[in-house]
Amino acid sequence: MSDFAHDLPKAELHLHIEGTLEPELMFELAQRNGVAVPYTSVEEVRAAYVFTDLQSFLDIYYAACDVLRTEADFHDLARAYLERAAAQGVRHAEIFFDPQTHTARGVPFADVVGGIHRALASSDISSRLILCFLRHLSPEDAMATLEEALPHLDLIDGIGLDSSEVGNPPGRFADVFRRARELGLFAVAHAGEEGPPSYITEALDQLAVRRIDHGVRCIEDDGLVERLARDRVPLTVCPLSNVRLAVFPSMADHTIGELLDRGLCVTVNSDDPAYFGGYVGDNYRAIADELGLDRDQLVTLARNSFEAAVLEPAERAQHLEALEAFLRAG
Ligand code: ADE
Ligand code: ZN
Repeated sequence: MSDFAHDLPKAELHLHIEGTLEPELMFELAQRNGVAVPYTSVEEVRAAYVFTDLQSFLDIYYAACDVLRTEADFHDLARAYLERAAAQGVRHAEIFFDPQTHTARGVPFADVVGGIHRALASSDISSRLILCFLRHLSPEDAMATLEEALPHLDLIDGIGLDSSEVGNPPGRFADVFRRARELGLFAVAHAGEEGPPSYITEALDQLAVRRIDHGVRCIEDDGLVERLARDRVPLTVCPLSNVRLAVFPSMADHTIGELLDRGLCVTVNSDDPAYFGGYVGDNYRAIADELGLDRDQLVTLARNSFEAAVLEPAERAQHLEALEAFLRAG
């Protein structure tokens, strides 16, 4: 069951490209760019990846981004992700990037988006690119970032909201989300990872998001669970991330099975795979092995991933047909 889960054709909808920076590539880019890193070996880097909560992870994750300097760096980062994802059944990927982390260091917006796009354009995996605003920064900073993105909107499909959740409710970003939606971008937001269920409601009501990233804390509010089920609002759940960031004490405590049973459009994703011990197929494998999800539930998760993706009807039908062909062959 576990190999079946790993190999299933699937879409990945919650993936921060900066979170795919493996320690080996970090050292390679540090050397290429003459940037100092506070580690002496790959083992030392991996040993540092012990987190107590979201912020303890974000501090290390933003620091590591310092090695990303050029268009080629962003290209190599995205290409490495796409190769790993393809080996774990990913047929479609909707990829987050955090431009503010890079433009604040003087890296041109065009190099960030251009490098990522060059890798996406040469891959067999279909893709969408999602610009995430950092919610620990101001709404004005987010609006300025959207302005900076305007010359590149042909390469950007959606917007998201990430970084430190608690104390930074979605409603602060209502204006910039409205402007982005007017520009034709689709909207998603992280909510209910560490923050309360009310942040999920706020993201739906004030940001008009089409998916909720994480969203696992919805389970604390029955009315919200019913709303998410009725409206088929997808949740992009990230099991290994949730355990590494102590959202759940262990995989055995994860509520993804219950969310599925309650009729939600749940999907499985990797979030920041270089930091959390695995790519998306590894996440499917973990819930099959450790939560005992059965074949039907795993197939539902894969189907949901294509249902929740931002695809044209013909593209969606092709991906779903490829999934059915895989199931018939197995
Ligand atoms: N940025 C990268 N990963 C994140 C996560 N899991 N939550 C919020 N912001 C993030
Ligand atoms: Zn995330």
